Amino acid sequence: MSEKFDVKLDSKSYLPDPSVKENSWMQDYEKVYSESLKDPEKHWENVAEELEWFEKWDKVMEWDHPYAKWFTNAKMNITHNCLDRHVFNGRRNKVAMIWVGDNGAEQVITYRQLYRDVMRFSNGLKSLGVEKGDTVCIYMPQVPEQIVAMLACARIGAIHSVVFGGFGAKALHSRIKDAQAKIVITADASLRRGKRIDLKSLVDEAVVNASCVEKIVVLRRMTPQMELFSEIEVDFYEIMEDVEKECEPEIMDSEDPLFILYTSGTTGPAKGIVHTCGGYMVGTYYTTKNVLDLKENDVMWCTADPGWITGHSYIVYGPLSMGATILISETTPDYPDPGVWWSMIEEFDVSVFYTAPTAIRMFMRMGEEWPGKYNLSSLRILGSVGEPLNPEAFKWYYRVIGKEKCPVLDTWWQTETGMHMLTTAVGEPMKPGFTGRPVPGVVVDVVDENGDPVPAGTGGFLVIKQPWPSMMRTVYGNDERYRQYWTTIQNYYSAGDLAVRDEDGYIMIQGRADDVLIVAGHNIGSAEVESALVSHEAVAEAAVIGKPDPLKGDSIKAFVILRMGFNSSDKLRLDLMYHVRMNLGPIAMPSEVEIVDSLPKTRSGKIMRRLLKAQELGMDPGDVSSLED
Ligand code: WTA
Repeated sequence: MSEKFDVKLDSKSYLPDPSVKENSWMQDYEKVYSESLKDPEKHWENVAEELEWFEKWDKVMEWDHPYAKWFTNAKMNITHNCLDRHVFNGRRNKVAMIWVGDNGAEQVITYRQLYRDVMRFSNGLKSLGVEKGDTVCIYMPQVPEQIVAMLACARIGAIHSVVFGGFGAKALHSRIKDAQAKIVITADASLRRGKRIDLKSLVDEAVVNASCVEKIVVLRRMTPQMELFSEIEVDFYEIMEDVEKECEPEIMDSEDPLFILYTSGTTGPAKGIVHTCGGYMVGTYYTTKNVLDLKENDVMWCTADPGWITGHSYIVYGPLSMGATILISETTPDYPDPGVWWSMIEEFDVSVFYTAPTAIRMFMRMGEEWPGKYNLSSLRILGSVGEPLNPEAFKWYYRVIGKEKCPVLDTWWQTETGMHMLTTAVGEPMKPGFTGRPVPGVVVDVVDENGDPVPAGTGGFLVIKQPWPSMMRTVYGNDERYRQYWTTIQNYYSAGDLAVRDEDGYIMIQGRADDVLIVAGHNIGSAEVESALVSHEAVAEAAVIGKPDPLKGDSIKAFVILRMGFNSSDKLRLDLMYHVRMNLGPIAMPSEVEIVDSLPKTRSGKIMRRLLKAQELGMDPGDVSSLED
């Protein structure tokens, strides 16, 4: 594979305004990085010392390949660090969150208010019988209550499993069942582009045949208020009413699970990535501070939804553990017009802005006049995550939004890693198309299939060579799948991404090595879409590939074999697209469906998606020796 990915590396670099680096937390990346290599445990221990623990650790790290424990036997609660620590140390009346709704509604919540709401909702959950170790599924729109629900779970030691509100009933059902969720917290509806999208009815569908679910908590935001019917349904605010105001945080062991978050894989259902309390807290706190360079007076806006890891780590746990002010919003980037996000940056003085390449590319298409209408001078740091930030998008973001002053941090990481792993440190030279170098404390390499490093300029597999605090601990209910991450290539963690490194150690990500599609920055497993297609009565077999799309990264194309008695028609193709949309949600909807008579398969019966893709894109199909026919 090495030859195939050889690239011409462009070495032109960009330097932001020097004042950003002079005032940054990290100051000297090279020095901090090389020191972290000498003694990684000391590096992470120093970070942990900045946070509050009920009891300190016996050991910083224990490694028994592929299992790591961080801060062993330490006792803590992440919400103590996200709430109590601030409320009792001078940030009581500081704004924790500013929320802007799809319809322009606003809410401002201080640390004190958030603390009180979380404690009451924690007690509300307890009154429903939720105990430490139970799983709670959160399927909500992007409203403050979504974060209150997450923090309340963490406070009482329940494991939250947040499912993105844009997923459909089938995707929700499988996630509820896999995690054996005892409670589902939802809302009547979410709002998108002025339209109401019913969530509750999807939950009703999703809990059929999920006998684990004992209660459904419903946030009723619409008027007239929807009625709650069955006995298992309770109102979000009612459960906060007749309970104690105070709720002491549950004493958690550093290695107790904090949450499960599903991410799509190549085969089979989505994987429930399990993160634990102590290491995750240290990793997200460290990177929020040292990668995003968050300061006391910043207003941070991460445009992700808490339904994704980016939202978990850089809306909720990282920024709140630092006592920051976050902006959260239900708005879509182009509604009511493509200036809405820039108007919010001006209005709320946003200084750290973290978004996805797909949004940046959309704005590029809309034209510079939209950001040009607003004063963006509050911005200091720009970030990007989710897929490669192509050089054109980098340059546009840097020039038009950052006015050639702000660093543009292209951060590479994964649901599995919990925190940023690669980026260009604030103030270091930035190279368009490259994410950058490893975060201090993180050891990465680009290797061939045997685990041997490849020379600079040659493509290979991206691996992480040593454990880090916020690494996933297992795949829920499938530890074998977890072990595969650490055994596929040598004894390293194999990220599943292809990468190339230049002479300066900067890394460029070249896409996935497997069949995971990245659509608008979201991971979509080809297997999940295929299984949704096959659940349609007309479909016998299906294969799904990603086609490069200038806006979305990948767009989904499906190849389908029909059952006997069904004939190809435009209507059927549309039906199939909508069938996937209904089952999995709009992000997973194929933009093209082609009806075929056969699919290329290996002798062992696996569909060769690679071949379909090569054919579709007119590329060389590579090695076809395993092809059956
Ligand atoms: C891709 C999102 C290139 C990559 C935090 C990774 C990226 C997958 C970048 C994880 C980036 C994420 N440049 N590719 N800066 N960031 N990816 O789990 O393929 O939703 O493996 O986590 O997204 O996606 P996930």
